[in-house]
Amino acid sequence: MKKTMLLLLTVLLYSCGESETKEPPIRLADYQQSHSSENISETTTPEAGEATEEATTASAATVVEVSIEGTDQMTFNKKELRVPAGSTVKLTLTHTGTMPATAMGHNFVLLKKGTDVAAFAMTAINFADNEYIPEGTDKVIAKTKIIGGGESVTIEFKAPAPGTYTFICSFPGHFSMMKGSFIVE
Ligand code: CU
Repeated sequence: MKKTMLLLLTVLLYSCGESETKEPPIRLADYQQSHSSENISETTTPEAGEATEEATTASAATVVEVSIEGTDQMTFNKKELRVPAGSTVKLTLTHTGTMPATAMGHNFVLLKKGTDVAAFAMTAINFADNEYIPEGTDKVIAKTKIIGGGESVTIEFKAPAPGTYTFICSFPGHFSMMKGSFIVE
């Protein structure tokens, strides 16, 4: 009796061990391999697009991800953003501070060339109910809503014609500190 139990146990253990070691390692390796090559192509594609496809038509449908941060110190972490001409820009604004939107709200507003930035910002102050964007303005290429500490917002827009544009935060009093260049090249 003891012997058959033991035998049964070893058979069970054996078959169990066999089924565990037979296939899965190969599958895991395959999976990791395909998975890591996926990651590589994901991270290198945008760079390759920027560097080599500039002069070709291949960049027409390129989506370029851009990120910028606003702080409790009333600053953006970047003074300059660059995107390739013809791309679709996916821009994420993150507020890395903790202050509420009512006290230290930030947005990202990309202005058309030739806009009087100070005049725009002074007008924007009167439009708290419209995310500090003057109602009916024709000066804005792209904008986010106002966010507070810990929040983030993503917008997508078509890159304007090649050139240098100004972006600001239009929250009252912020534009002189929170301003930068958006370069389409
Ligand atoms: Cu701001």
